[in-house]
This record gives sequence, C-alpha cells and structure tokens, in this order.
Amino acid sequence: MLSTIQFSRSTKSKNEEAYLKRVMDSRHLHGDGEFTFRVKALLESMYENYEVLLTTSCTDALEMTAILSGIKPGDEVIVPSFTFPSSASAFASRGAKIVFCDISPTNFNICTESLEALITNKTKAIVTVNYAGIACDYGRINSIVDGRSITIIEDNAQGIYASCKDKKLGTFGDLSTMSFHNTKNISCGEGGAIFIPKDNQTLISKAKIIREKGTNRELFISGKVDKYTWVDIGSSFLMSDINAAVLLASLEDVEIKTFRRLQVWNQYLKAAKALGSTSLQLPLYMNDFDHNAHIFPILAENELKRTKYFKIANDMNISIASHYEPLSISPAAIANGFSSSCPISEDVSKRMFRLPLHDGMTSEDISRVVDYIGMLT
Ligand SMILES: Cc1ncc(COP(=O)(O)O)c(C=O)c1O
Repeated sequence: MLSTIQFSRSTKSKNEEAYLKRVMDSRHLHGDGEFTFRVKALLESMYENYEVLLTTSCTDALEMTAILSGIKPGDEVIVPSFTFPSSASAFASRGAKIVFCDISPTNFNICTESLEALITNKTKAIVTVNYAGIACDYGRINSIVDGRSITIIEDNAQGIYASCKDKKLGTFGDLSTMSFHNTKNISCGEGGAIFIPKDNQTLISKAKIIREKGTNRELFISGKVDKYTWVDIGSSFLMSDINAAVLLASLEDVEIKTFRRLQVWNQYLKAAKALGSTSLQLPLYMNDFDHNAHIFPILAENELKRTKYFKIANDMNISIASHYEPLSISPAAIANGFSSSCPISEDVSKRMFRLPLHDGMTSEDISRVVDYIGMLT
C-alpha cells in the first residue's frame, strides 16, 4: 500500500536542531530572548521601514491590530466572508459589528466592486486577506477609502516572501499581520507577527505595551525605567524564544523552501493545463504575481464533482483539502447578528479543493499527484 501524501507538512530546517539546543541550553525560554531578536532583525531587513513584533499567532497579531486601531462597540469592520475566523473574531471580540464582503470569483480576495457600498460612517477598518499569497487590489481599495478615516488591516497570514509589482505583501495595509503556524510556508508550530510602519513610533510604543500584558516591561528590559507596571490594556502576546529558535531556522531557509514549493506548484499547473478541461477553474491568474506557492486551489464544476475528486484522492492515498466555510453564514455570524448573503463565497466554498503542497514533497509524491490531476475529468 502506498504511503499517504500529506496535504501539508512542516519540514525540518537546516539550523533547527542547533538553534533548539542553543535556546534550551540558554534557559531563556520565554519571550524576547536572543532568537526573538534575531528573527525580528531578519524580518526587518526583509521588510524595510517596518517594526516587526513577534506574537504567539497571527490571531493574536490581529487582536493587537484591533486594539491599536481603537475598535470599540458600535464600530463596523468590513471582513471578507471567505477567510479564517480570526480575521473576524479579533474585531468582534472588541465589540465591533462585522460586515461581510463577498470575494472575487477569480482570485478569492475581497471584492472591490462590493466593498464601496458596505462603507458607512461607522466603518473603522477593512480587513484585506491576501489569499494564497496574492495581493488584493490595493490600488482600488486605497481609492475607495481615500479621505476617510478607515484603517486597512492587511491579514497577510499566507503571504511571506510574496510580492506584487516588486512591493512585498505585508506592506500594503496601515497595519499587517503574518502567520507562522505549522501549515504555513515558514513555520514554528504556532507563531505570528504584527508589522507596524516605522514612521509611527507612537503606535509602535503602544503595541509593545499591548504585547507585554499592558505593561511597560519593554522599557524596563531596555533599561529606560527601573520598574515596570501596568500602563494600558494588553495581553500575553509574546512568542516564546523556543518557537523563535525554530522560526529563525525556518526563515533562514525561506528562499529554498519557496523555490521548492514553486517547483511543485508549476508542475501541478502544467499537468492541470494539459487536461484541457473547461469545467475546472485553475489558478492561472497566480502566474501573473510573484506568489509564494502557499496554495494550489482548484474549483470543481460543482459540489458533486468535488465529492468525486475527494473520493479519487482518498483511493489514491492523497490528502486534498477544501477551504474556508463562509463566515457570513457561520454560527458565530448568525448568533451575533452579522450574517449576510455572500453568494460567491458560498459557491467557492462548495467547489474549492486544494492539492497537497509542501517543500518536502519527493519527485515520487509529485508524480502521484500529477497522475491524480490527470483523473480530474
Ligand atoms: C487568512 C488567515 N488569517 C489568520 C489566520 C490565523 O493564523 P494563526 O493560526 O497563526 O493564528 C489564518 C490561519 O490559517 C489565515 O488563513
């Protein structure tokens, strides 16, 4: 019996064991140790003009953006319906009303044609999700919000090392976040980061307090005050230095990991195009972007066909996956009075399936998936 091809797998990085040994020997296992500062420095060299603060997850980073943008009960936050629940819950937990926006049927990002009509004088923020490491239409989004006091929160959970016209994803919003969860291209089990423009030192100082349980401990550690105390609201958002050690090793391999993923991704696209099917919607649009091969999404003609493709994959011991359930009709949306109709999200959710994709795939794994693609009729 053939072994199962996993949908996603985090592979060991070159320096992972050495860094783990070093952090364990140091006994500095909590936040803001050597490895946290090394990851921060590396990310800040990749994302110039941004202060990067490591967090326990992208969810926590999103919660920080909600506090930093002053979201309060009665405010409205526009969120795409086709996204991970954290993109909405981070703002709902501060009392905001979540207004769901439908997505584009071609790239699954927030639909800029629907967006404008959803803006009211209560809109405080718009969450933009760069699905599969593809930038939203920020030109259009910026022109829609121009002159209004609305914060763009770029949920760039999936966008490490991706760019659009030479501008890195994560540098489009007023604030942005990233995920280093095990399923992401660069990972440390659980982890995330918030990116804040360096020219907003007031916001950076506030973020450092929020991340440190609402205290000015950061000033204490850097020797600027002799005691630290409670100064604002916050939570325990710091990443442990153990996770940061794993993350540093993973991040140092970002180029090779992305390259390997892209190699897999391109072979899938070639095989899928060779099918010549007019009923499958392939991610052809992604070739126009410097994406990071985070996801290979395909839309089946209908839900029935998708069920058939799942069965074939299962018979071939290949793990494929659907994606988000539309948040606009989720139990939480209904219970909180946020539910609305987002027909494209609902349709995409029923038809999408994703192929296995990680940087540890062998050529045998890839050819088995290519054979599977050949059966998508
Ligand atoms: C778009 C998006 N936002 C946020 C998250 C949450 O990330 P984390 O697991 O790091 O909290 C995810 C997770 O997959 C995601 O896809």
